[in-house]
Amino acid sequence: MCGIVGYIGPQEAVSVLIEGLEKLEYRGYDSAGVAFAEGSSIKFLKKMGKLTVLRESLNGHNYRAAAGIGHTRWATHGRPSDLNAHPHSDCTGRFAVVHNGIIENYFSLKEWLQLQGHVFRSETDTEVLPHLVEHFYDGNLETAVLEAVAKLEGSFAIAVVTSHEPDKVVAFRQDSPLIVGLGRGENFLASDIPAILKHTRRTYVLNDGEMAVLEAGRVRVLDRQGNEIIKGVTEVKWKAEQAERGGYEHFMLKEIYEQPRALRDTLSGRITPDGSEVVLDEVSISPEEIEGLKKIHITACGTAYHAGLVGKYIIEKLVRLPVEVDIASEFRYRQPIIEPGTLVVVISQSGETADTLAALREARRQGARVVAVTNVVGSSVAREADGIIYTWAGPEIAVASTKAYTTQLVSMYLLALYLAKGRGTVDPDEIKEIILGLQKIAGKAQSILSNSAEVKVFAGELASCRDIFFIGRGLDYAVAMEGSLKLKEISYLHAEAYAAGELKHGTLALIEDNVPVVALVTQEGTFDKMVSNIQEVNARGASVVALATDGLKGVEKVTGKVVYIPKTHPLLTPVLAVIPLQLLAYHAAVARGCDVDKPRNLAKSVTVE
Ligand code: AGP
Ligand code: GLU
Repeated sequence: MCGIVGYIGPQEAVSVLIEGLEKLEYRGYDSAGVAFAEGSSIKFLKKMGKLTVLRESLNGHNYRAAAGIGHTRWATHGRPSDLNAHPHSDCTGRFAVVHNGIIENYFSLKEWLQLQGHVFRSETDTEVLPHLVEHFYDGNLETAVLEAVAKLEGSFAIAVVTSHEPDKVVAFRQDSPLIVGLGRGENFLASDIPAILKHTRRTYVLNDGEMAVLEAGRVRVLDRQGNEIIKGVTEVKWKAEQAERGGYEHFMLKEIYEQPRALRDTLSGRITPDGSEVVLDEVSISPEEIEGLKKIHITACGTAYHAGLVGKYIIEKLVRLPVEVDIASEFRYRQPIIEPGTLVVVISQSGETADTLAALREARRQGARVVAVTNVVGSSVAREADGIIYTWAGPEIAVASTKAYTTQLVSMYLLALYLAKGRGTVDPDEIKEIILGLQKIAGKAQSILSNSAEVKVFAGELASCRDIFFIGRGLDYAVAMEGSLKLKEISYLHAEAYAAGELKHGTLALIEDNVPVVALVTQEGTFDKMVSNIQEVNARGASVVALATDGLKGVEKVTGKVVYIPKTHPLLTPVLAVIPLQLLAYHAAVARGCDVDKPRNLAKSVTVE
């Protein structure tokens, strides 16, 4: 999820590495480090915090290294600390590895390596890698790395150096990006283009399953079996600033398109291999506590609150416990009644939102068990909660939350399935069916992202409107709230989400000719009622865009503008339905010339009340 750099050549490697990491700083990280061969061992320089801390630790020392690797970490396993920072070492101190992604099977690998006598120092999943390379090393680094990565499950972009072969940097890519920068008498490695642009625009873009072996005078690309692959050179055309967004116009669009990977990462390692159960040990709720649960409170702000609204439907449906959802700034001041047997779930992408943190503290003061759903390892809510579900979405830079929201939804499903299994409230076959749906959801999200042209057209029409209404029922109403917020916060258009059944009790008075209404019709159970609600607003002249699930025929009879999303388990539709709404907001904001990534008056993390 974060940054990798590598270098080999005549320049001073440490400076090149740190400069490269500085070009990746925009991505957000919690620690950084470099490693390079120094005589018969490897020198490790790594620090928690910003790159300036790492630079200060060098105190101007000139290390004269010819090859090395560097990393900025976005922690997923093990809190941010000097020890957990990358690069990581083997037992001998002669191998160094940096890694982006998640090693799903790290726990079993770690146990196996410990049985072989390997001693671990960090809490990370990554540290299994240098020990695996050490285990397999037999005089050839690339062979040892291929054997090591063959043992891994999950997403990983890695770079490896060893003092046994100090003139080599070896890299491997699986699901996490890696590129090779081709220089003259020197070569570069990076997880993202900005890190190498100063030196070269000629690159090899590694594909999944490919290894790069960098030496000063050549780069070889190998497949998993070690056979050399002839790679075409890709010339980078992007300007430096554009490169930071991976070629996307805005971080928000990049993060919308990162959702398939973020969904996969958030699910990774949390479903049993046979797909029958959710594994959520990190929530630290004992079977007895699950049995004894009487009520659940969910509290959060903004988009996270909207994820909580979906969570309410899902948990009440599957766990059969009453769920209350509160805006965090309201929760803490309404003297909430928290009785024994209450679980409080706080949701926060940043993990630092003052209102949410205060709500967490109020819940704990009253003796509730608290589980935090957050995207930042070691954040305040993560540290103060009893249990944690990390959304492994990677850094979310845009103020408007997108991939954090959909991975928060996945966390709600995981928690609901975990509790339902523990309380026996859902048939095992139904649990398997929902889990299967979750395992397919990333691919369905990708298909929406790949067919979003008409959403852009509808967005252009909205851009000139004054008031937009989002209507839905049940889960669709919860998603309508998120769609409305997305549009408001980045396009500055007034939008309102309304329970479709409630329109006739007042708001219908606002519907007149050409008022735009976005109607969410993804649920079979409320389909007919929603069609009637669309006819209700049509009769008042509204211009309706419907968002419907494939196969729910009949919507096209009441509006000519329909965006379809792929069919999935009915409970899972919010993960898909929100994506066209994110894109609708994005393109409307672009059409209106708004500052999409940094909307006026807003901050990414609201650490004040
Ligand atoms: C979402 O698009 C907004 N940027 C905002 O509502 C955000 O969700 C809210 O401030 C909560 O932030 P958190 O998830 O970091 O706690
Ligand atoms: N999972 C690894 C860790 O937690 C790598 C995280 C990253 O991609 O930065 O250290």
